[in-house]
Amino acid sequence: MAELDNTKDANDYGIGIPVKQHPFFLKGLEHAEWGMKDRLSRIFNPLSGNTVMLAFDHGYIMGPTSGLERMDLTITPLIEYADCIMCTRGALRSIVPPTSNKPVSLRYSAGTTVLTELNDECLLDIEDAIRVNASALAIMVAIGSEFEAVTIKNLVRTADMGAKYGIPTLGVTAVGKDLVRDSRYLGLASRICAENGATFVKTYFCETGFEQVVAACPVPIVIAGGKKLPENEALEFAYQAIQQGAAGVDMGRNVFQSEHPIAMIQAVRAVVHDKRTPKDALDLYNTLKHQK
Ligand code: 5RP
Repeated sequence: MAELDNTKDANDYGIGIPVKQHPFFLKGLEHAEWGMKDRLSRIFNPLSGNTVMLAFDHGYIMGPTSGLERMDLTITPLIEYADCIMCTRGALRSIVPPTSNKPVSLRYSAGTTVLTELNDECLLDIEDAIRVNASALAIMVAIGSEFEAVTIKNLVRTADMGAKYGIPTLGVTAVGKDLVRDSRYLGLASRICAENGATFVKTYFCETGFEQVVAACPVPIVIAGGKKLPENEALEFAYQAIQQGAAGVDMGRNVFQSEHPIAMIQAVRAVVHDKRTPKDALDLYNTLKHQK
């Protein structure tokens, strides 16, 4: 306890100076709780308002995907360039050094794999998410699939659990075999995620109407990368997505399957954070790829 004798009197009350307000920088999240905002401010850069998330959770449904056979060799060196990593708890504990101190978007639902029908999923235990200090809980939401209701229930339960502990929920819009990735579907799926409690949404970019997908989603959208494309094309669609209002990327294969993943993630950062053009970013990629 502080000494009671000879203490300095409190007299600096700043009378007349209004209390400074700190508006929150992410769309639709002004009224989120403090812990939630703290975690979101680690995932999204408050200066650019955007994030470069590195996704390497593919193995949980696909097994040893190309580029992820030895995550210790391919992913660990990339972590320092990401703002946030998206992975399973298995990968986290095996190959992510805790000293990297990166916010983790933890894959929080799991179930069927590519060998059967995807998306019949259950949830992990919130205690384990807290144990690994998750900054977000990522949930697959399969609108229009036979497991639509299961995945929406998973989202709702996760959003409730996340709200209890101040952990944001990332609604990940899955695309089934028979669903088209057009703005009508992506707009519907993203909006449903947000309305059911997702703090932010991961969806795909589409050539036509993406601006409307973003506009009609009341919380931030980050885009998935999808299948590996030539570097210039991946940088182009990342650029288009950011120009049309996306708050970042959650990219996997277009980074770790690139011939030069460390150069590629830095080129993606230039587009996402510095608003560099795809041409500038490609030049950066071509310069960095020769560096050791
Ligand atoms: C599917 C997922 C993935 O597992 C992964 O994160 C996708 O990353 P990419 O498409 O960029 O390889 O979330 O919806």
